[in-house]
Amino acid sequence: MKILVTGGAGFIGSHVVDLFLEKGHEVVVLDNLSTGNKENVPYGVKLIEMDITDPKVDEVFAAEKPDAVSHHAAQIDVRISVNDPIFDARMNILGSLNILQNSLKHGVKKVQFASTGGALYGEQDYFPADENHPIRPLSPYGIAKHSIERYLYYYHQVHGLQYVAMRYANVYGPRQNPHGEAGVVAIFCDRLIEGKETIINGDGKQTRDYVFVGDVARASVLTLEADLNCALNIGTSIENDVNAIFRTLNEAGNFGAAENHGTAKKGEQMRSVIDWQKAKNLVGWEPKVQLKDGLKTTLDYFVKKHG
Ligand SMILES: NC(=O)c1ccc[n+]([C@@H]2O[C@H](COP(=O)([O-])OP(=O)(O)OC[C@H]3O[C@@H](n4cnc5c(N)ncnc54)[C@H](O)[C@@H]3O)[C@@H](O)[C@H]2O)c1
Repeated sequence: MKILVTGGAGFIGSHVVDLFLEKGHEVVVLDNLSTGNKENVPYGVKLIEMDITDPKVDEVFAAEKPDAVSHHAAQIDVRISVNDPIFDARMNILGSLNILQNSLKHGVKKVQFASTGGALYGEQDYFPADENHPIRPLSPYGIAKHSIERYLYYYHQVHGLQYVAMRYANVYGPRQNPHGEAGVVAIFCDRLIEGKETIINGDGKQTRDYVFVGDVARASVLTLEADLNCALNIGTSIENDVNAIFRTLNEAGNFGAAENHGTAKKGEQMRSVIDWQKAKNLVGWEPKVQLKDGLKTTLDYFVKKHG
């Protein structure tokens, strides 16, 4: 199958590219390199440097004729979405629509969409949240992801375009960008290795569902050819707090760093954890990497990167 991976030079997208190639698929990457990196794109894979909002995306689809699209390109910073909802909507709603509209126009059979679990469900009524949990996004980022899920439903119902929306939990692993706001694991690894002070927001008891990027990428492979047309949670159903992440990394690298707490972030979600049984039932997906092992792999990657 020929697959266009948007955001394929980024953290998750590049792991998806690797696995697609491993399975014998042909891959083309479309990425504006705003947070992604050319080096993440494997040798021999065509990288088209373009913004998903660009009208020329039409020409890319016409020339490449992909069978499937794995749409991972996005503005991923929740805080940017809060400060500039119009920018966020331009990228995450209008840009995604440009990808969907062209998928329809150029006969793409299947669209995969990188959606979100935590930012979609908001403060949860129950733990872990399954896909039927009420949708109550508390940021423009979450609203945009939800909007695109609704558009996918429309494109499927009205135009027959097949889709899957993968609602990722907190993804961590090698190649995550440590310089943004997203990705506490990457940020901690980077700062611990550099011997810089690491600040935990508030009491550090806010929990998240940390899922390893290799497990996440496997979901793209498993959902590629299944006729799903729904949303699937991709997480672990296990909650860990930020203190546990800090302590595990600190211990794994023998850093002996002090645990510093700063002021709590206003409006930060306290608990987030999602149920993955539906993904298991429909495509046989399950998380395989234990947090401790995944954190060690990630730390080793950052140590190597720092030389
Ligand atoms: N990392 C997580 O925990 C997480 C959780 C839920 C959902 N997601 C979603 O998964 C996807 C990938 O996220 P990631 O963590 O790998 O982030 P990332 O920033 O590493 O990857 C995003 C990629 O998209 C590219 N990009 C951004 N805006 C673009 C635009 N307008 N046009 C073309 N390319 C553009 C970037 O250059 C980058 O390569 C995103 O859609 C994100 O919302 C991530």
